[in-house]
Amino acid sequence: MKENRSSFSGRIGFVLAAAGSAVGLGNLWRFPYLAAQHGGGIFILCYIILTLTFGFALMTTEIAIGRKTGLSCIGAYQALNRKFSFLGYVAWLVPIIILPYYSVIGGWVCKYVSVYVTGQAQAAAADGGAFFGAFTANPSEPLGWFLLFLGLTSVAVLLGVEKGIEKVSKVMMPALIVIIIGICVYVLTLPGTFAGLKYYLVPDFSKFSLSTITAAMGQLFYSMSLAMGIMVTYGSYTRKDVSLVRSVNQIELFDTGVALLAGLMIIPTVFAFQGEAGLSAAGPGLMFQSLPMIFAEMPGGQFVGLAFFVLVLFAALTSSISLMETIVSMFMDRLKLGRKTACVAVLVISLLLGVPSSLGNGLWSHITLLGRDFLSFFDFISNNVIMPIVALLTCLLVGWIVGTKTVTDEVTLNGEKFGRKRLYEIMTKYLAPLFLVIILLEGIGILKV
Ligand code: PHE
Repeated sequence: MKENRSSFSGRIGFVLAAAGSAVGLGNLWRFPYLAAQHGGGIFILCYIILTLTFGFALMTTEIAIGRKTGLSCIGAYQALNRKFSFLGYVAWLVPIIILPYYSVIGGWVCKYVSVYVTGQAQAAAADGGAFFGAFTANPSEPLGWFLLFLGLTSVAVLLGVEKGIEKVSKVMMPALIVIIIGICVYVLTLPGTFAGLKYYLVPDFSKFSLSTITAAMGQLFYSMSLAMGIMVTYGSYTRKDVSLVRSVNQIELFDTGVALLAGLMIIPTVFAFQGEAGLSAAGPGLMFQSLPMIFAEMPGGQFVGLAFFVLVLFAALTSSISLMETIVSMFMDRLKLGRKTACVAVLVISLLLGVPSSLGNGLWSHITLLGRDFLSFFDFISNNVIMPIVALLTCLLVGWIVGTKTVTDEVTLNGEKFGRKRLYEIMTKYLAPLFLVIILLEGIGILKV
């Protein structure tokens, strides 16, 4: 069984696929907004420090246990400790919950690519964003785009680890970097962006508080695709001769680099066209309403808008591919299904769960769960509740039950030097669990900082 397991061709393929998972909507729409809210440079500094400590420990753990066991998440947790197989199931639940609604948003992105391809930049900006509201409230159109996005994701997963996921990542990730740098260079030459650049990069210590740190922690955690079995699964496809230390460093560099560039692209632009007030728009409002209004005013905005949404599409696709692969991989490992059958099963589940999220902005907007529409409900349950619990239990399992040696031995398998080994151990045993408890309590609203 293990001999037949698919794998990435080498380190570059693995790093690009994992970075493809990590770089997603969170980097592009959430990081810039959080940085703007939490004092610019000071938030960036906290974020980078946390990436190199907290993020590094969690990511190393997940990739190492995947590669050590050669199994996707349920099997991997079970192999570490029988009593912990439930944790694998819980982790696996996360991509099942996220993939459908992530694909609904991916569908919106496809729609906006088509809007800019067909030269409708002005229409997309009309009436202060009413275009977006009307589109998402339409009962059928968003469903079609959702199906398209899910279909594209399935094709890559169906083609397999090396021929599908790795190939797609090797094209889309470098393209993404070229596009984002291109947009940054262009927007920074526009008049009025310098003030926004200062706003983004110069630390504003008066905005520093405990919430700067907790916001950075929460963002980091989501941004690195942790606690959803993804890194375990991708780790299981990684060859034994690949250096885990170098891989983790490069994935982190990619993820953080794109987040920083996204801030460089978005904050000065919004600042120049709408002033500081424009930065209060977050999430979908920023991406699908504020930015299109800016593109409509900007010289060459039609092309910048198109480049921007293609960039978002690539980022979203490589993330949704990692979600789908994680679920498919589980079906293949546990139920001994073939890749095709597993893909069909995941498609059916995602359709069933995605339709309510798609309709929740229109036809079914009267239905709420915990006071939220379907999409926000699924997002809340996975991000604020299940993911911190999975990461916390993973740290406790590795730090206190099976021992950090399980991971450090895997990292140093080829006689490789593990420079931050001591830091890794302290993080996994003490600090990361503490941070995760804070993230959890804050996420469910018990703790207010
Ligand atoms: N890490 C991704 C981001 O920053 C988020 C993601 C969520 C990726 C779910 C895969 C799955 O946007």
